[in-house]
Amino acid sequence: MRAASVSDFRELARRRLPRVLFEYIDGGSYAEATLARNVADLEAVALRQRVMRDVSQLDMGVEVLGQKLAMPVGLAPVGMAGMYGRRGEVQAAKAAAGAGVPFCLSTLGICTVEELARAGAPPPWFQLYILKDRSYMRELLQRARAAGSRVLVFTVDLPTPGARYRDVRSGFTGLKGLPAVLNQLQDGITHPTWLWDVWLRGRPHTLGSVAGAVQGSRRVTDFLAWVAANFDRTVTWADLDWVRQNWDGPIVVKGVLDVADARDAVRAGAQGLVVSNHGGRQLDGVRSSITALPKIADAVGGDLEILMDGGVRSGLDVLKALALGAKACLVGRAWAYALGAGGEPAVSHMLRILRAELETAMILTGCCSVRDAGLELLDGDASRS
Ligand SMILES: Cc1cc2nc3c(=O)[nH]c(=O)nc-3n(C[C@H](O)[C@H](O)[C@H](O)COP(=O)(O)O)c2cc1C
Repeated sequence: MRAASVSDFRELARRRLPRVLFEYIDGGSYAEATLARNVADLEAVALRQRVMRDVSQLDMGVEVLGQKLAMPVGLAPVGMAGMYGRRGEVQAAKAAAGAGVPFCLSTLGICTVEELARAGAPPPWFQLYILKDRSYMRELLQRARAAGSRVLVFTVDLPTPGARYRDVRSGFTGLKGLPAVLNQLQDGITHPTWLWDVWLRGRPHTLGSVAGAVQGSRRVTDFLAWVAANFDRTVTWADLDWVRQNWDGPIVVKGVLDVADARDAVRAGAQGLVVSNHGGRQLDGVRSSITALPKIADAVGGDLEILMDGGVRSGLDVLKALALGAKACLVGRAWAYALGAGGEPAVSHMLRILRAELETAMILTGCCSVRDAGLELLDGDASRS
């Protein structure tokens, strides 16, 4: 199948990846109500068709946190991407660079920031989870700065991971010893392309950035369990000062859904925030990102730069988010599916699709510049949100 849309990449990833990995990417927490809302609420926003306008000159470029993007999209931090494609973070970072958009490297990436640099990828945005060992965290931030990263994405909605039922059902979490090995073996041999490409040729499969802090772990799931037990739950807004002392570039707080928190982010001195519920993977039942966005944009849009993620599956979704107050969107699953489906070429292809969809949506709404996108692009009567 040749992919025409993000949902096609999802289907291709489902076929190619071991079940444990596909379910890990695709799933959300608990009953997945928020995951479903992210998508459904974006779908429910109605664009406003306009005709007979000169749409011959389109400007899709935008400057975010001092960086020029070829379109208002970035690759969200996604853990373990090096399990979905061989040295997956490198492949995705190169695809992002080719499309002129930023790639954000997760604290829980398989590849390190140094590996990205050695492979010739431009310095990524760096995503931070604060773990208990502060001196290690300080060192990690220094490494990212030394490798040229400028934008820090500080994720604040994961002091503990939400329960993901699919990971238990697939055997990704919970199994130990022989049952774990047998599950892994069976999953691997029934997905030979992945087995050859990633499992055999894509090693080492450690969480590169945290590997130095973890002793005695061999399997990726051991790493994840160690990380889950080591999130620093004492972190408050006051810790943004600590982050600032260790980072001299823009700081973006990721995982804000509430106006009060957005105001706190401004007071704490953040330069940006990502309206996000972690792709419906944390507190299930919270509202969708797209319905949280307008109020937050109204309240603090003049004070810092607002990004949003959650449920973005097309360029049309990107335009809807811009109309509701975001300066740019991050996509998570969209690139993880594409990476799993076919590595760097597929991620590049997916980004071309998003761009083409955004372009068409701009033309048909009469929007010539993404920087001018506003509520006038939406059909208020037809939107449920
Ligand atoms: C498989 C997977 C792993 C993720 N890992 C991280 C992570 O390590 N750090 C982080 O801040 N967010 C992580 N996220 C959340 C994404 O950054 C982003 O908020 C979310 O995927 C957006 O929703 P979408 O997948 O609907 O685009 C992850 C999401 C997925 C799907």
